[in-house]
Amino acid sequence: MAKITAGIGCSHVPAIGAAFDQGLTQEAYWKPLFDGYPPAQEWMRKHKPDVAIIVYNDHGSAITLETIPTFAIGVADEFQPADEGWGPRKVPVVKGHSKLAWHLAETLIINEFDMCVMNKLDVDHGLTIPMNITCGLVDEWPFAVIPIAVNVVMFPVPSGDRCWRLGEVIRQAVESFPEDLKVVVFGTGGMSHQIHGERSGMINTKFDTAFLNDLTKNPARLRKIKHEEYVTDSGAEGIEMVMWMAMRGALGDNVHEVYRHYHVPASNTAAALIVMETDDKKKPKKKAVKKAASKKAAKKKAGRKAPAKKPAAKKVPAKKKAAAKKPAKKAAVKKKAATKKVATKKVAKKKSVKKPVKKKAAKK
Ligand code: DHB
Ligand code: FE
Repeated sequence: MAKITAGIGCSHVPAIGAAFDQGLTQEAYWKPLFDGYPPAQEWMRKHKPDVAIIVYNDHGSAITLETIPTFAIGVADEFQPADEGWGPRKVPVVKGHSKLAWHLAETLIINEFDMCVMNKLDVDHGLTIPMNITCGLVDEWPFAVIPIAVNVVMFPVPSGDRCWRLGEVIRQAVESFPEDLKVVVFGTGGMSHQIHGERSGMINTKFDTAFLNDLTKNPARLRKIKHEEYVTDSGAEGIEMVMWMAMRGALGDNVHEVYRHYHVPASNTAAALIVMETDDKKKPKKKAVKKAASKKAAKKKAGRKAPAKKPAAKKVPAKKKAAAKKPAKKAAVKKKAATKKVATKKVAKKKSVKKPVKKKAAKK
């Protein structure tokens, strides 16, 4: 059975491709950015995926403003590097995985993601630069690629949460593919940037850092970020981060961060690279079962010892209980416990002040 083993979030700034292609990676401007890439390349060499599903956006290279699919999937055997105005980049042809791609298309469409099926798709910097970043300059790409293009170029664009759900179905499709394949999912674009107008060059490091943190710590928060917030807080092109949401949605609940690199600026952009691995589902499940079992046992034990109807209303803090059991302890310890109690109260008070404010804001 095929399996998603990791996810990669990666910026795709065209100037990074130019620095690769023109051998500028060790120049003073580029070095700090490029110094962050070898650990991810080393990880990729060790990880050895068979297929990468790359959720990216085309920038008017293969998909023009004449026809804009919200979601498109490349099902061909190979994809040529697109000509973005200076001739195609001299990178290897991207090999597809037609069989898995058609299975993805079918699963996605049955699950109400009406994909545009692309039998021909030239791939632009949105796809090839993250491949260079994670594989280096190579003669042949080390894995097959299934491109999934998301419209973030012309509004209306899909929400981050919609992309998350796309990711969930991608996972369902991969896990129902009978061949043994190791699959990684990329989400490319971002981070905060705007490349036109009055706010051109804007970067929001705080927004980006919180986004990177919450990919593992609190993805539920990220699912609630609306278009307006992306555009206002991370710049018009920061909306590209919705593609990271598809990647994250495809990884499931159990992930851990393996590697992160964040650098400002790369051209006009905050550039990031994050690698996350999926954890084996069995481990947390085992723990959960054990915990549940021990809870049950504890309840049984407690039931045997305790009198039939002991009122449960008065909850005694553990510290206080311990203090009551050991009256011989020094006064200093008591004092310490009392201080703790005051501190706890303070926090409780703070919380109760915060709550109504939050409610008010939600009503607006
Ligand atoms: C630029 C273009 C992009 O597509 C992007 O994601 C970031 C930066 C640029 O032209 O600088
Ligand atoms: Fe882009």
